Amino acid sequence: MLEVIVLGAGKGTRMRSPLPKVLHPIGGRPMIAHVVDAARSLSPKAIHVVLGHGADAVRSSLPGDDIQFHEQAEQLGTGHAVAQALPHCDPSGQVLVLFADVPLIEAEVLQHFVEQTIGHCGVLAARLSDPVGYGRVLRDDSGNFRTIVEEKDCTLHERAVTEVNTGIITAPTGQLIDWLGQVTNDNAQAEYYLPDALGVASKAGVNVKVVSTQDNFAIMGVNNRLQLEHLERTYQRRLAERLLSDGVAIIDRHRIDVRGTLTCGEGVVIDVNTVFEGDVVLGDNVRIAANCVICNAHIAANTVINAFTHIENTNIGKDCSIGPYARLRPGTELGEGVRIGNFVEIKAASFADGAKANHLAYIGDAQVGAATNIGAGTITCNYDGAHKHPTVLGDGVFVGSNSTLVAPIVVADRGFVAAGSVITANVDTAQLAVGRARQRNIDGWDAPSKNNQ
Ligand code: UD1
Ligand code: CA
Repeated sequence: MLEVIVLGAGKGTRMRSPLPKVLHPIGGRPMIAHVVDAARSLSPKAIHVVLGHGADAVRSSLPGDDIQFHEQAEQLGTGHAVAQALPHCDPSGQVLVLFADVPLIEAEVLQHFVEQTIGHCGVLAARLSDPVGYGRVLRDDSGNFRTIVEEKDCTLHERAVTEVNTGIITAPTGQLIDWLGQVTNDNAQAEYYLPDALGVASKAGVNVKVVSTQDNFAIMGVNNRLQLEHLERTYQRRLAERLLSDGVAIIDRHRIDVRGTLTCGEGVVIDVNTVFEGDVVLGDNVRIAANCVICNAHIAANTVINAFTHIENTNIGKDCSIGPYARLRPGTELGEGVRIGNFVEIKAASFADGAKANHLAYIGDAQVGAATNIGAGTITCNYDGAHKHPTVLGDGVFVGSNSTLVAPIVVADRGFVAAGSVITANVDTAQLAVGRARQRNIDGWDAPSKNNQ
């Protein structure tokens, strides 16, 4: 019977960040959320999370009712942190300890480790060409586990050891309680080290199993921003490679960022420097040009997103053309064959099939009917300084360039707004609305010049 303890109480001093370390994101999700997911993949009897720094923020980053939180008021070391959770574990079970700052530990690696060590005491180790910063695994002359020594406590000789502690350990719960009770903080950091419990066990003649993993990426710890950036880039490259293998035409695997989930149909092309955030779904043959930011969007088949477009909380139908330089804000719903051109901003508005706003417009809190055409420079005046008001344009409406639609306003089907109009009254079906001063032409006008002041 397995219980998992995730340690996430540390401040992360080396990050030099106001955010608790374990909330720093990898691929758009807090490190600790990745680790809790890995824990869940083992279907343990319980998941315990040890909190400390930024406890409330860490707690709210982990939704789900399958987590038991335990607060470590003072961060006295990883051994002390585990001791906060152990009294809440079944002493006849087995615990697996994960570190929230080893975020990309993979389900398969953990599964293998758990299978190899069930009923035993064990540590997941790795061989690193550059072991700096990790605790070193020391073995005796016959190759059996002896203890783990933190880098700050290493002798010069021990420092040269390249086998490291990934931080992931397992032990029978009752025994771990006993061994941890014997750990002291007589070391360079004056902390109660969790790995020392394994040293205590081995000294007492217990066989500590060392399981090695080859996946040096999955076990990398994040203690500073350099490591965070390195892990993020590696994560992004792996994700891009997976998408490429799945048939997504990513033009440069080094120039895409997916901070969430990206689901693609067939024939999708993604040019360079696009950032995807949240949940994004791209239908078959969708093409994304360079330098777009796309957040929580559903984009249906054959739609083209042109360069420098920003999309947030938006649904886009099939066969649309968006951008370049378009901004679709939350609540934008576009039907099929819609065209949104450069410097058009849309917010909380729906466009029915075939509607167009090709240049320079602001359309907010609006319903735009099928095949309606919105001319350049059209503005919905949706805000009176206190409240937002709706604009409703029927099917086949034509809004001439540089028109101002003062909401609340309705232009019924086939209504036609003359260019340059300020529209303050509703327009009925098939009416022409002209809302501007009539032009006067004055004869014999002597234009000002520098000579006749
Ligand atoms: C730790 C291990 C080291 C291992 C490395 C792997 C110890 C003493 N050292 O070192 O052997 O090679 O991880 O990445 O275990 N935490 C708490 N409460 C505390 C202290 C830490 O919850 O009082 C949490 C931190 O939030 C973090 C994790 O435990 O998630 C590891 O702590 P950290 O201080 O980063 O340990 P390392 O120095 O990296
Ligand atoms: Ca660490």
